[in-house]
Amino acid sequence: MEEQKQDRGSFGSNFGFLMAAIGSAVGLGNIWGFPYKMGKCGGFAFLIVYLCLAVFVGLCVMVGEMSLGRKTGQGVVGAYHKLAAKFTWVGWAGIITGFCILCFYLVLGGMVTRYACGYLLAMFGVDTFGDPATFFGRFLVNGGGMVLWFFIFTLINVLIVSGGIQGGIEKFNKIAMPALFFILVAVLIYVACQPGAGDGYKFMFAANFSVFSDPEVGFLKVLKTAAGQMFFSLSLGMGCMITYGSYLEKKEDIQKNSVIVVCCDTMMAILAGCVVLPACAAFGLDYGGGPGLLFSTMQIVFSKMGGFIGNLMGFLFYFLVFLAALSSSISILEVCTAYSVDKNMAAGKGGKDGGRKKATILFAIGIFVFGLLVALDGLGSGVAGGAAIKTPAELFGIGVKGWNDCWLDFYDMISEGILMPLGAMVMSLLIGWKWGTNMVLEECEADGKKAWGRGFFNACFKFITPIGMVVVLYGQLTGFFG
Ligand code: PHE
Repeated sequence: MEEQKQDRGSFGSNFGFLMAAIGSAVGLGNIWGFPYKMGKCGGFAFLIVYLCLAVFVGLCVMVGEMSLGRKTGQGVVGAYHKLAAKFTWVGWAGIITGFCILCFYLVLGGMVTRYACGYLLAMFGVDTFGDPATFFGRFLVNGGGMVLWFFIFTLINVLIVSGGIQGGIEKFNKIAMPALFFILVAVLIYVACQPGAGDGYKFMFAANFSVFSDPEVGFLKVLKTAAGQMFFSLSLGMGCMITYGSYLEKKEDIQKNSVIVVCCDTMMAILAGCVVLPACAAFGLDYGGGPGLLFSTMQIVFSKMGGFIGNLMGFLFYFLVFLAALSSSISILEVCTAYSVDKNMAAGKGGKDGGRKKATILFAIGIFVFGLLVALDGLGSGVAGGAAIKTPAELFGIGVKGWNDCWLDFYDMISEGILMPLGAMVMSLLIGWKWGTNMVLEECEADGKKAWGRGFFNACFKFITPIGMVVVLYGQLTGFFG
C-alpha cells in the first residue's frame, strides 16, 4: 500500500488564527443575545457585571483552552484523552454540546439568511416579506421555508469546513471578519444620525444601578444572565478554543491572542448594542421585547426607515448577522470534524486529510436530522400555533417551562444550560488542582516570552472560575427548570 503523509492542517498566520477565533466568538450571541439581555437587565448595570466576568472568568478559561489545544495538538476529545484518560468524557461532552448547539444555531442562521436575501431583493423592488409587522410570525410556522433555509445554511457550513483550516475556515474569516466590522460601523453611524437615538445610548452608558433593587430582576438575575451570556459569547466550555488552539503554531503568543479575542468580542457586542438599542429608541419600539428583537423588532425598524435606505440598511444589518453566525457555526462544526479527523489519523485512515470531507458531511447530516425538530415547531408556536410538529411541552403534555417551550430551548438547555458550564468548571478545576496552572503557563511560554499574571491565573483557575461556573450552572438550571 502506498504510504501517505497525513496532515491535520494549521493556521497560515497569527492574523488568520485571530480572525477565526474572533469569528467564532462574535456571533448571534453578540448581535442578538447581548442587546436583548441588556435590554431586559437594566442596560448599564448589566454592562458592568458583564465586563467584570469577561476579565475574571472569560479570559482565564480562554487562555486555558487555547493552551490545552496547542499543547496536545488534538481536538477536544483527543486533548482530554491525552492529558487524563479518565476525563475523556469532558471531551465527549464538548462534542455533544457542539452537536446540540448546531441543531438550533443552523436553523437561526438559515432564518438570518432568509432576511438578508429578502432585503437584497427588496432593494431591487421585489417584495418577499409582505406586511413587515406580521412576517416573522408567518415565516416561523412555514415549515417548508424554514427547512429550506436551514438546509442552505447547513450546506454553506459544510462547504467551508470541508475546505480545511487554511483553505476553508481561515480564508473565509480573513475576509468576513473585517467586512463584518466595517458594515457594523456603517449601520451604527446611520442609526446614530436618527433623531431620538440618544435615549438608547443613555440606557447603555449612563450610570444606573436601579435594576439591582427592582423586585422583578435584582442583582442575582443580572449576574446569572451576564455570566451565561459571557460564556456562550466567548465560545467557551465546549472545546472550540481547544480545537482552534490545536492548529496554532508554537511561536504565537497565547496570552496576547486571548486578550485580543476577549476585547474584540466584547467590543462587538457593545457595538451591536449601539445599533439595536438606539434604533429601537429612535423608532419608538420597546427594547425589553426579548428574543424577538433581532427579527420582528428590527424588521419594523427597517420598514419605518422606509424606502431604498430602509431596505439597504436591512440588507447590511442582516448580512452582517449572517457573517457573524456563519463564522461561529463553522467553528462549532470544526469541533465535531476535528474529532473524526484525529481518530482517523491515529488509525492511519482517511487519506491525506484524515477523511475531513466525509466526517463533515456525516456530522452535518446528523445535525440536520435532529435540527428538523427546531425548524418545524415554529420556535414555540407548536401545532397549537399552526406549526408542523409539537413543542416538547405539547408532546409530553406538561406545563410550559423554560426548557420545553420549544425544541430550540430543549437543545439549548442541554448545551448552554448544563454541559458548557460543567465543561468549563471541570477544566478549570483540573488545571487549578490537578495539572497545575504552571502547565498552562509553560505552554504559553513556548513562544519564548515569559508568561504574565501567574498569581492572577492561579487564583482564577483554582477559585474564581469554578465559583463563577457554579453561578452560571445555578442560573441556567433555575432559568430552565425553576
Ligand atoms: N460565540 C458564539 C456566539 O456568540 C456561539 C458559540 C458558542 C460558538 C460555542 C462556538 C462555540 O454566537
